[in-house]
Amino acid sequence: MVQPYKHEPFTDFTAEENRKAYLDGLKTVEGYLGKDYHLLIDGERVTTEDKIVSINPSNKEEVIGRVSKASIELAEKAMQAAVKAFKTWRKAKPEMRADVLFKAAAIIRRRKHEFSALLTKEAGKPWREADADTAEAIDFLEYYARQILTIKNGVPVNSRPNEFNRYEYIPLGVGVIISPWNFPLAIMAGTTVAAIVAGNTVLLKPASTTPVVAAKFVEVMEEAGLPKGVLNFVPGSGAEVGDYLVDHKDTRFISFTGSRDVGLRINERASKLNKGQIWLKRVIAEMGGKDTIVVDHEADLELAAQAIVSSAFSFSGQKCSACSRAVVVAEVYDQVLNRVIELTKGLSIGNPEDHNHFMGPVIDQGAFNKIMEYVKIGQQEGRLAAGGEGDDSKGYFIKPTIFADLEPDSRLMQEEIFGPVAGFTKARDFSHALEIANNTEYGLTGAVITKNRDKIQQAREDFHVGNLYFNRGCTGAIVGYQPFGGFNMSGTDSKAGGPDYLLLHMQAKTTSEMF
Ligand code: NAD
Ligand code: ALA
Repeated sequence: MVQPYKHEPFTDFTAEENRKAYLDGLKTVEGYLGKDYHLLIDGERVTTEDKIVSINPSNKEEVIGRVSKASIELAEKAMQAAVKAFKTWRKAKPEMRADVLFKAAAIIRRRKHEFSALLTKEAGKPWREADADTAEAIDFLEYYARQILTIKNGVPVNSRPNEFNRYEYIPLGVGVIISPWNFPLAIMAGTTVAAIVAGNTVLLKPASTTPVVAAKFVEVMEEAGLPKGVLNFVPGSGAEVGDYLVDHKDTRFISFTGSRDVGLRINERASKLNKGQIWLKRVIAEMGGKDTIVVDHEADLELAAQAIVSSAFSFSGQKCSACSRAVVVAEVYDQVLNRVIELTKGLSIGNPEDHNHFMGPVIDQGAFNKIMEYVKIGQQEGRLAAGGEGDDSKGYFIKPTIFADLEPDSRLMQEEIFGPVAGFTKARDFSHALEIANNTEYGLTGAVITKNRDKIQQAREDFHVGNLYFNRGCTGAIVGYQPFGGFNMSGTDSKAGGPDYLLLHMQAKTTSEMF
């Protein structure tokens, strides 16, 4: 009997035994650093000469692992394996498919701190962030397994006398899953298993900065009993393997999470009909954000400052949901800004293997350079109020940075920086603050800090984002509780961890029988 869904609890690291468990996880990961990982095609491990070398962003000298890189020929082989496996997997009982996910969740739960420690090493995640990423991966497995059991018989429709009508959902076919590095376990696993449990077969192309945790997840799915060919693992260059698979005539759908520009490219390429293709490809695209916390004067200002700091700087601001803009009404602007500066200056930054650091590094040299470029732009557009310094000598560390007094249409207030940089803008009043909050092309998350219920209602109606929070920060959506996805250039609003998500990977079929 399946128990009702409840999200995986976060680990309390104030408890000595939990700290020890995490350190044991780190030791386990240290035991396999630098190893080689393979592609998985039709259940076979395939090794290539060409490798993606994954390094620790806190310590560039440390190699996490070397992962074989798919060529076009191997991507084609994987596609044919997925096409073949679909013939049987689409008919596998939903209960059996769900069981694989339940087992995978149990395996990851058993090795929870090892997975989290690997996220600390490979993605530079501080303990509590890594712990939340692993918990979210477990949640996706548990939640989607239950979802397929809920929808397996379709939805009732009417039937007339002597007629038996049914309305059911069937899988789509072969899906290409393209995932980002910033939730390298949760989003990679969640997007993969949603497609699989719905009866599709997939090719998984993980982000090139975090391929080892993806390889470990693929091993878990094998251990959980997933038949060969259902999940094919094809790490490789986005531009080469990614384009090839997106264009492929046998690709039925693409589930992409990543930046706006790559999402737009995929959407455009997927819309072209290729020789032999007999369907319109479906694109699920979850893209960037430029997320705002609005602070009203009738508000708990300490809560506002804490919410801004934690949403802006946890995981170094590298969340699509991160608060990169604070819009504060004039009466309390200085008060909130000063408190945020004070809190920000107290944050410690360093190698996240040390539990005491609030912030670790940014992901790689490209991200470091891009963020430091925005710091320069910020100095022209506004007033540097905290941080602004970076050090890439050993790892890619950037201090949490605040720019004050920005114009609402400045680049810092409009473009996704994806790093520990937050901008402040002053609003005349609450309505003006909402107007500024809506003035980007994105629409992913937002938060409003106010004690006034009328203003909460006003924001509920007018603040146009997919995930809107009141009197809390704008990050940290929980699977099954706050389904996650954005409007406008933030994507197709395909709410991950929500009740409709699996249906995006399925199509409805009506049958009508006379008797
Ligand atoms: P990215 O767009 O650079 O890469 C994402 C994935 O796309 C990677 O696997 C990459 O290899 C692949 N890729 C690159 N070029 C490709 C191509 N031409 N064809 C196919 N695939 C290609 O993004 P990133 O840097 O990994 O992640 C950060 C971005 O992701 C940010 O913009 C962030 O806001 C966004 N994000 C959004 C969500 C969400 O739910 N909306 C969640 C997490 C991250
Ligand atoms: N789902 C993640 C969050 O809400 C991105 O922060």
